[in-house]
Amino acid sequence: MVIRHDAIGDPAAAANSDHMITFEAIKARRNVREYDNRPMTNVQLDQILEAGRRSPSSQNSQPWDFVVVTDEDQLRRLSAVWFGGAHIAGSAATVALVVAAEDAARSRVQFDLGQATMSMMLAAAAFGVGSCHSAVGDHELARELLAYPADKTCALLISFGYPVARPLAPIHEPDRRPFDDVVHCGRW
Ligand SMILES: Cc1cc2nc3c(=O)[nH]c(=O)nc-3n(C[C@H](O)[C@H](O)[C@H](O)COP(=O)(O)O)c2cc1C
Repeated sequence: MVIRHDAIGDPAAAANSDHMITFEAIKARRNVREYDNRPMTNVQLDQILEAGRRSPSSQNSQPWDFVVVTDEDQLRRLSAVWFGGAHIAGSAATVALVVAAEDAARSRVQFDLGQATMSMMLAAAAFGVGSCHSAVGDHELARELLAYPADKTCALLISFGYPVARPLAPIHEPDRRPFDDVVHCGRW
């Protein structure tokens, strides 16, 4: 297996390659909160959403619906749903993860949403596209802007776009606990 260091940010290389680039995307993904004004292609967006759709879920329940927003004015208004969601305004696209309101707090649904989120973020990273989560505080505003049914709620928003600075590339020293601190072999 060969890991291609040149395929990050090059969808054509990625699409035509039978080489392993997953780990490069894992190393390059980071939360990006400032985006340049380069649009994303529909192919990129479709592949990101397809990655979410294909995610595993408890008993294959697929508890999610995805609402994709690319309209500038709608993104700007959506950025007000949470004080930590300002980055949504400048994103090329933001995907709202919508679930049944009565199930939203269930741990299995939260787990499933986490898996779909990470799948989409990694698919984006393979295109050189950054991403960032946002929680939802103002649910009334989210509902007004996204128009999902009354029995649904918006659990999370994921923004996508090219970083305004520092293009996505493998991070050699991530801000994470050391490997040996986290990993225990056989016994703690
Ligand atoms: C459940 C969850 C909710 C998050 N909510 C927000 C948010 O509302 N706004 C934000 O800017 N970042 C949010 N983040 C992003 C985290 O702050 C980010 O993952 C962390 O800073 C690590 O960033 P890095 O992956 O670039 O190292 C959230 C992350 C998770 C997992």
